[in-house]
Amino acid sequence: MASEGVGVGLVGFGTIGAGVAKVLIQNADVIEARLGFPLRLTRIADLDLDTDRGIDVSGIRFDADGQGLLADPEVDIVIELVGGYDFARKLCLDAIGNGKHVVTANKALLAVHGDEIFAAARDAKVDVAFEAAVAGGIPVLRAIREGLAANRIVSVYGILNGTTNFVLTEMERTGADFEVVLKQAQELGYAEADPTFDVEGVDAAHKLALLTSMAFGSTLDFKSIPTEGIRGLLPLDFEAADEAGYRIKLLGIAKGRTEANGEEVIESRVHPTLIPKDSLLANVGGAMNAVAVRGDAVGPTLYYGAGAGEMPTASAVVGDLMEIAREIHRGSSRRVAPLGTPEASLKTKALRNLGDLVSRYYVRIEAVDRPGVLARIAGALGEHGVGIESITQRAAETGEASVPVILWTHEVKESAVRDALADIDALVDVTERSSLIRIEEDL
Ligand code: HSE
Repeated sequence: MASEGVGVGLVGFGTIGAGVAKVLIQNADVIEARLGFPLRLTRIADLDLDTDRGIDVSGIRFDADGQGLLADPEVDIVIELVGGYDFARKLCLDAIGNGKHVVTANKALLAVHGDEIFAAARDAKVDVAFEAAVAGGIPVLRAIREGLAANRIVSVYGILNGTTNFVLTEMERTGADFEVVLKQAQELGYAEADPTFDVEGVDAAHKLALLTSMAFGSTLDFKSIPTEGIRGLLPLDFEAADEAGYRIKLLGIAKGRTEANGEEVIESRVHPTLIPKDSLLANVGGAMNAVAVRGDAVGPTLYYGAGAGEMPTASAVVGDLMEIAREIHRGSSRRVAPLGTPEASLKTKALRNLGDLVSRYYVRIEAVDRPGVLARIAGALGEHGVGIESITQRAAETGEASVPVILWTHEVKESAVRDALADIDALVDVTERSSLIRIEEDL
């Protein structure tokens, strides 16, 4: 332990790093009062030594290179806020190798390299904490790992990406196209200059991989999570959803159950989802995040707040620092394993195939407006056993020869809808690839 209190070294002094320094400095009194000892930011490393972050760093050693910090006995906990994969991975492993505890906000790193980093931390008997990696400032990981530890988790539904939630909220509100709203999101600073991970659902899938492991005691399996983004959504989808009493949200969904043969199966998927307008998650607008967790004993619970941003993310990082600092002060570590289940007890569980999903579906087909087209579409659906709840032909866009056909199916297996759509898309009257949106009613 550092000479006075617990010492913290920060690598990456960008927006979140500056927020962490601000919280540690501005709230030093409450932090010390709650811990009973001080938490000291002793060193910072960042390539950019010049930018004024609006923080008085006098008294804090500030280097361009993190090596000294990693070896410094005055640093008990290393905060990794560099982002990305390779450098961050090595930094975390080196810190762990030097007996330092690690706090990170890097969901991409943990979703992909978490197994390796958690195993190294177990062997070195140090902690790795990452509350800020999932839903930013919302302490949902701690809620699942500790507050709900007595429950079998039934389901997790999360609005896990603020950028896409902002875009979807604005597309619904204004009727504007995706590209127009995305540009606004970039101008407002919500979306990155390269917003690919956000709009393609990858950022949400990184977070869902961590939530799924924590909720179901499974090994991390980011690569197997079916992931669809929001790029293909049209203003018409929002209109049709609204008329039917739904909203479109990009959800991370994880569910678990035991099959009749005793096999434990989990579902983990990210995609645009139609949810009833009166559900709690449907009313989470703008760039906010929310996670609904249902446990078998507790029933439904909901966690809402800022999923990104300097101070909310810093709030989560510093909360992790305090938790680890308490352990250090008591001369212990790893009160709870990083994923809530000791690494040796995590199980590899099969992820349910999307084709086996049973749901109602919203389908949009673009077809030439000629006699007999609807009959051919209905015929293809019938051949695959897909029941139609309603079907409507919408007005053509100005200048378009084809018209959108919107249909809502009865509950059916997804593979049947996909097979029917493959046949429908092969019809000469169908001019574009059809799209479907899954519906979730029981949030
Ligand atoms: N790009 C993320 C979002 C920020 O829009 O929610 C934090 O993960």
